[in-house]
Amino acid sequence: MTTAPSGPPALQTVNLVKIYQTGGLPVPAVRGVDLRVERGEFVAIMGPSGSGKSTLVHMLGGLDTRTSGEIWIDGRRADTLSESAWAILRRQKIGFVFQFFNLVGNMTVADNVELPALLSGASPKHARERREYLLGELNLTDKADEAPGRLSGGEQQRVALARALANQPQVLLADEPTGNLDSRNTRDVLRLLGQVHRQGQTIVMVTHEARVAGLADRVVTLLDGQIVDDGAVAPARRRKQGPGDVVELHG
Ligand SMILES: Nc1ncnc2c1ncn2[C@@H]1O[C@H](COP(=O)(O)OP(=O)(O)OP(=O)(O)O)[C@@H](O)[C@H]1O
Ligand SMILES: [Mg+2]
Repeated sequence: MTTAPSGPPALQTVNLVKIYQTGGLPVPAVRGVDLRVERGEFVAIMGPSGSGKSTLVHMLGGLDTRTSGEIWIDGRRADTLSESAWAILRRQKIGFVFQFFNLVGNMTVADNVELPALLSGASPKHARERREYLLGELNLTDKADEAPGRLSGGEQQRVALARALANQPQVLLADEPTGNLDSRNTRDVLRLLGQVHRQGQTIVMVTHEARVAGLADRVVTLLDGQIVDDGAVAPARRRKQGPGDVVELHG
């Protein structure tokens, strides 16, 4: 989908920097990233291990503090917010899927997925319908009444994706959402991401796989904490491509 910018970008960073201090030695993880993501855009973040992808998306969700630079979410300056203000912003506007899933162990899968929608004021009926849709798309309907601890890693990862999308968040941040999945479940996850994207969902997704990135509108490549490439995915390729095919990127 080509997005005509209307209103502020969903997300923007200005000269964003993260330097970790470990044992006195500074480790620069993100070194001056300027990234602008329009509403409705689907951006894949690629780059070798250690290039700063996770650090970047953690900062975008307020899970890690920046060293310097600016973060704007939906036209609002976010990097200067307190932790509690970030928590509110996250609940209202951001959905996460990270490598650790943080599902609530003593609640069922169904309740885990419904909770964010209920917390943000959705009616119980709406929350239930959304949960049924998401679990159905991810082939998890028969796990709805289980405790997350009884699910495999890949199943828990899909529950985490359903939970992140329960709220129809302004921005979905995903760090390798297909990292633990076999090809069939990868296909289900990609189909759902494609669907919600067509419904207008803004997505920023870290991935190692060109096949997964091929679903995005744009691929941003990081190297040593800096953007070294930022290019559109060829539209013709995206249209023809099914989630099982190989794609070429240009840009
Ligand atoms: N909590 C931390 N403390 C110190 N250094 C860290 C911390 N987290 C990440 N780093 C360092 O920052 C750099 C970027 O790490 P990051 O996790 O963002 O990379 P990545 O691109 O997500 O890698 P991968 O593809 O392996 O997930 C690495 O050099 C890493 O060692
Ligand atoms: Mg990472």
